[in-house]
Amino acid sequence: MYDGEYSDKVIDHFTNPRNVGEIENPSGVGTVGNAKCGDIMRIFLDIDDDGIIRDCKFKTFGCGAAVASSSMATEMVKGKSVQEAMEITNKAVMEALDGLPVVKIHCSLLAEEAIHAALWDYCQKTGTKIDGLKAPKADIND
Ligand code: FES
Repeated sequence: MYDGEYSDKVIDHFTNPRNVGEIENPSGVGTVGNAKCGDIMRIFLDIDDDGIIRDCKFKTFGCGAAVASSSMATEMVKGKSVQEAMEITNKAVMEALDGLPVVKIHCSLLAEEAIHAALWDYCQKTGTKIDGLKAPKADIND
């Protein structure tokens, strides 16, 4: 890494990302992007009838911090209820990664937004309501 500001956990999740891929017929999928850097993140959720997230995969076309954030975020939502997943903030993702350089904070925000967008898609499909969940700013699923 060029500036030594990345934690070992960030480097680990960047070089060996967990849960990369797609889920066929996902319960919810969310795609978000950051207009400034042009990076895009898509998260797929497999949610069972009890509202528990059984599987989560991601595809990120973006920087190393975005890859590490999505990898960590997918690990964090697995096994959680949709309400618990809703409450995972980018701050929690950053803490789990032992921090990110300040200029990379928006990368972890992308992970939070992608989870929310995927949960929103799930709610639209199933008529479920998740407290505090709002429609994604821009839906770029298509
Ligand atoms: Fe944009 Fe990391 S630089 S997501």
